[in-house]
Amino acid sequence: MSNIVCSGVDKNYGAINVIKDFNLDIADREFVVFLGPSGCGKSTLLRMIAGLEDISGGTVSIDGTAVNDLEPRDRGVAMVFQNYALYPHMTIYDNIAFGLKRMKVPKAEIDERIKVVAGTLGLDPYLSRKPTELSGGQQQRVAIARAMIKTPKVFLFDEPLSNLDAKLRHHMRVEIARLHQNLQTTTVYVTHDQLEAMTLADRIVLMKGGAIEQVGTPAEIYERPRTLFVAGFIGTPNMNFIDVTVDHADGAWALRSEGSEIQVSQDAFNLKPGQKAVLGIRPPDLTPADISGRNTLAGTADLIEFHGNDALVSFKFAGKEVGALVKASSCPRTGDRVVYSFDQSRLHIFDANSGLSLRAA
Ligand SMILES: Nc1ncnc2c1ncn2[C@@H]1O[C@H](COP(=O)(O)OP(=O)(O)OP(=O)(O)O)[C@@H](O)[C@H]1O
Ligand SMILES: [Mg+2]
Repeated sequence: MSNIVCSGVDKNYGAINVIKDFNLDIADREFVVFLGPSGCGKSTLLRMIAGLEDISGGTVSIDGTAVNDLEPRDRGVAMVFQNYALYPHMTIYDNIAFGLKRMKVPKAEIDERIKVVAGTLGLDPYLSRKPTELSGGQQQRVAIARAMIKTPKVFLFDEPLSNLDAKLRHHMRVEIARLHQNLQTTTVYVTHDQLEAMTLADRIVLMKGGAIEQVGTPAEIYERPRTLFVAGFIGTPNMNFIDVTVDHADGAWALRSEGSEIQVSQDAFNLKPGQKAVLGIRPPDLTPADISGRNTLAGTADLIEFHGNDALVSFKFAGKEVGALVKASSCPRTGDRVVYSFDQSRLHIFDANSGLSLRAA
């Protein structure tokens, strides 16, 4: 069992409070991703769990033991950083063995453990090379091997892939997912890349300004964003947002915007007549329609972005630039009139002032 419990965790730098009352239970074997924009406090939290940063308030427990006052090496954690800084003058073998040698682990045991770790990560052919003789992805694997060899209770990753090119990132992402499948070590992974978060996480912790905005599985966060911020942060291409006013007449509920009306069921949302709201709809949830009318979005295609299989069609609607993701084979040309419909169940509505989702519980 290696669960992690953060309760009421605060971090202050002088008078500045950068983490505010952070509460989270991470289960044994779970892969949790801290996601959020630059400066929201992801690394600070991870470093507090690792013991590289003092905890100003609250408690971090690993395996039921408060670790606030334990040295990093006594917490049973291993961390992999963005700048993994291998020792350039040492061989890969010595880089991986470094920590164990310092702990005076017998040579035969080091040999044995390196064999296992190098096998798992496909590093066997490179053990006698120097770091400069490896590719970026191979070097990153060495950094992971260095963490793995300590057989930690908890893996902590801080943007480990952000120095790699797109293709290598994808490759390493798959390797990290496989590694977790095999080892099942409790993992906390920091990134600002939502794709990385969506593909790796059992649960995503989406942060903003030092506090939790939403915690959930990738599907929960994608399908049921709790706030406008979450809705805008998750999903590519970005969710479309249209400013609307809630209208209630003759028993029917509608969202009115500049020159359009969209009917909604009151069952699915908690709405008030006259309320200012923001309608959210994801580009892949818009489908080409034949006739415009109620419950459609129509306009003139002003930009087409070809993605291969799909294309993103942009058009102006209710004063906003809106995007629809359609099959490239049935894609319009710039200047064409376009009409899109959508399934009611794919709509999101947020209060314009609080930013909170108006979806009924
Ligand atoms: N030593 C420090 N003194 C004062 N403020 C700090 C210090 N270290 C970090 N901060 C502030 O704490 C906040 C959180 O920083 P942190 O590095 O945790 O962000 P992050 O989410 O990891 O961002 P990024 O994605 O850019 O790495 C930031 O506003 C940062 O300016
Ligand atoms: Mg960071």
